[in-house]
Amino acid sequence: MAELAINVDHIATLREARGGIEPDPVAGAVIAELAGAAGIVCHLREDRRHISERDVEILQAVVKTKLNLEMAAAPDIIAFALKTLPDVVTLVPERREELTTEGGLDVAARVDYYTELVQRMHDKEIEVSFFIEPDIMQIDAAVTAGADIVELHTGAYANARSPEEVRHELDRLTRAAEYAHQYGLRVHAGHGLNYLNVVPIVCIPHVVEVSIGHAIIARAVFCGLDRAVREMCELVRH
Ligand code: PXP
Repeated sequence: MAELAINVDHIATLREARGGIEPDPVAGAVIAELAGAAGIVCHLREDRRHISERDVEILQAVVKTKLNLEMAAAPDIIAFALKTLPDVVTLVPERREELTTEGGLDVAARVDYYTELVQRMHDKEIEVSFFIEPDIMQIDAAVTAGADIVELHTGAYANARSPEEVRHELDRLTRAAEYAHQYGLRVHAGHGLNYLNVVPIVCIPHVVEVSIGHAIIARAVFCGLDRAVREMCELVRH
C-alpha cells in the first residue's frame, strides 16, 4: 500500500503573494499530518520564491512523520541541508524561469559528483532520493551513486491525453518501478498527480509513496486542508 506525502510549497506561495506571514506552511504541515499524511515535502528553491530557510528549520522541529527537502544540488542549499538535517533530501533539477520542476534530474551526466553528494548526506544520516524520468539509464546512475530512493516523474503521465498515451506512460512507470525495486531502491512517484489520476499510479507494484502538492492545496481552498488531505489519503490507500 502506498503512502501520501504532502508538498506544502503552495501554501507558502499564497503567503508570498502578500509578503506577509499567512498562510503558514508549518501550520499546513501540522494539519496534513493530523489528517493522515505520512510525510511532508517542501522545496527550498534557489530564488526562494515560496519556501524559506525559516520554514524548513521550523518544519524540521515540528514534523512528526518525515521531512523531505526537495532541492537543487547547489552549494549553499547543500550546506543548509547538511546543517538542518531533514530525514530525506530529494535532488531535483531547477531552472529559474520554470513554473515548477519540469523534468527529471540527469544523474547519469554527473554520477561521480552525485556519488560524493550522497555520501555527504549519508554521513549525516540523511536519505537521498533522485527525482528522475522513468528511464533505465537514470535508475542505473542512481544505483551507482548510492541513492536510497528514486522518485519517478509522473508529469508525462499526468499530461497524457489519449488512452494509448496514458497506457504507454503507465507501462514506462511500471517497468521503471520494477527495475528500481530489483536494484534495491525504494520507489516514490510524483508531479501532476490529482484526485482523478492518482489511483493507477498507486496500483503500480513497488510504488510506496506519492508526493502531491498542487491538487491538494487547490482543493483545500474550497473544502479545507483537513478534508482535502483525507480524501487523497483514501485514494492513495486504495
Ligand atoms: N515531486 C517533485 C520532485 C516536485 O518537484 C513536485 C513539484 O513541487 C511534486 C512532487 C509535486 O507536484 P504537484 O504540485 O504537481 O503535485
